[in-house]
Amino acid sequence: MLILGIETSCDETGLALYETPERDSAMRHAPTGTLLAHAVHSQIAMHEAYGGVVPELASRDHIQRLVPLSRQVLEQAGRRIMDIGAIAYTEGPGLAGALLAGAAFARSLAQALGVPAIGIHHLEGHLLCPLLAARAPQFPFVALLVSGGHTQLMRVQQLGRYELLGETQDDAAGEAFDKTAQLLGLGYPGGPALSKLAESGQPGRYRLPRPMLDKGKNAGSLEFSFSGLKTAVLTLLKKASDTQNKVSHPDLARAFVDAVVDVLVAKCTLAIAQTGLTQLVVAGGVGANQQLRAALDAKAAASGFEVFYPAPELCTDNGAMIAFAAALRLQAGKTIPASEHAFSVRPRWDLSTLS
Ligand code: KG4
Ligand code: ZN
Repeated sequence: MLILGIETSCDETGLALYETPERDSAMRHAPTGTLLAHAVHSQIAMHEAYGGVVPELASRDHIQRLVPLSRQVLEQAGRRIMDIGAIAYTEGPGLAGALLAGAAFARSLAQALGVPAIGIHHLEGHLLCPLLAARAPQFPFVALLVSGGHTQLMRVQQLGRYELLGETQDDAAGEAFDKTAQLLGLGYPGGPALSKLAESGQPGRYRLPRPMLDKGKNAGSLEFSFSGLKTAVLTLLKKASDTQNKVSHPDLARAFVDAVVDVLVAKCTLAIAQTGLTQLVVAGGVGANQQLRAALDAKAAASGFEVFYPAPELCTDNGAMIAFAAALRLQAGKTIPASEHAFSVRPRWDLSTLS
């Protein structure tokens, strides 16, 4: 079956076509389907001037991109619109208007074609995405979701069974990257630029706190807190400016990245130890970070667990993960029941309510 995947939860319009073999009901872990095409339009340039996502602009842009991107993936895959057998879309969580743009498009097209429309949880898309890679994990595994909006450790028992092990109490890791990058004048979203700047920084020149790790009480917990890090950077910059001292931005970027990476690696290692599982899956935009990948790989090799990542271009929001999650749910006969309305979105949606 040819599945069209649509992602519009925030500031990326993602479309993809994923094909599953007609007879594959025995599929349990490894996907045997094929990602035929995927395309993403990022709105970053449009929101940059505002220093963050403007929801109304995001919704309007999604509306404009959905048709051309659908045509683009069909063309890339060499398929016609009539070949589509199901349409998957991000039902939530995310920005209400942005979600509505995708849901309205998906449900209308599905109705016109006479095929099912399948609402997908955005975070489920992220955490199942590493299963698309050639080297894929098997259930059960621990998942670290690190994006602009989330920092969570989950126990993924099987499709639809997600147990929250710990999460951030304030800023998400990506949000901390973006806010710190802004303090250093690196634009929005500054995660990749900050990470790049850190590469030329000298380690150990500045020492930033390791929140929820340094303090004894929280050292054994799987909770995170990143808002203090950005404040520590701000305080350091202010102090230097007051005393007319120069701060090396690359060294400070390095100190920030090292602090975030230390915390993420330590908490992942703890989650692996506490659950007794041996596979860690990293998903979400910050999962593209090279320093994090290198540190996790080194820790995994030393501690005897395995780490799995999606392809770098599938770490950030995309339609492939939505089509793929729908493929797994269709094959398992576990699609999420549609609401009584023609279409619905869930701007807030707790992942642990899935089954
Ligand atoms: O998953 P994502 O595309 O969107 C959601 O938030 O759902 O993640 C975007 C976040 C942004 O905060 C961005 O700065 C961060 O991921 N990010 C990175 C890198 N690439 C993206 N942060 C650090 N290093 C990177 N290479
Ligand atoms: Zn995301």
